[in-house]
Amino acid sequence: MKAKISITLIGLWAGFSLTNFCYAEGMQVQYPAGYRNWLHVKSMLIQPGHALENPFQGIHYVYANGKAAAGLKKGNYEDGAVLVFDLLNYEEKDKTIQEGKRKLLGVMYKDASKYAATGGWGFEGFAGDSKTERLVKDDGKSCFDCHASEKGKDYVFSQFRD
Ligand code: HEC
Repeated sequence: MKAKISITLIGLWAGFSLTNFCYAEGMQVQYPAGYRNWLHVKSMLIQPGHALENPFQGIHYVYANGKAAAGLKKGNYEDGAVLVFDLLNYEEKDKTIQEGKRKLLGVMYKDASKYAATGGWGFEGFAGDSKTERLVKDDGKSCFDCHASEKGKDYVFSQFRD
């Protein structure tokens, strides 16, 4: 019985590591320290029932570092540009909508040669308030697949407004 369980576990682990891997060590996208001081690009509230409800339901803010802010105006981005998708839960209270706890932090980091397989962008997600718990398990492929529709804007959805 015991042997059977461990064989099953080995099988699961092998399957897991074949199909489900994080970025290799030197490829990892850094936590975007200090992003709350960057340019606030835009906000959006995604309500229950939206196609992107799982996992993006909540209120999110998009931030851009200096290079990404310049890129937003040009429509293409130089290496070192970083965009952040800061997703919070929200609470409806006394006819207001208020910020709740952070759900996740999405990050796009531009390095054209390093991340050539995903449009020159490294994608990462950090769970909740964690700076170390990483959510992307497929080298950013599924993130990129959806962002691919924005090829004409260097794979970025957000647009700059004054
Ligand atoms: C199903 C489609 C979809 C998937 C999958 C997706 N995104 Fe996005 N992402 C969007 C949309 C739409 C926006 C624009 C949101 C807005 O306008 O406020 C966006 C915006 C962003 C932004 C801000 C820059 C921009 O393009 O506007 C970042 C950073 C980001 N996503 C990271 C990620 C990461 C990291 C993943 C994977 C964990 C991911 N996204 C997966 C659709 C997607």
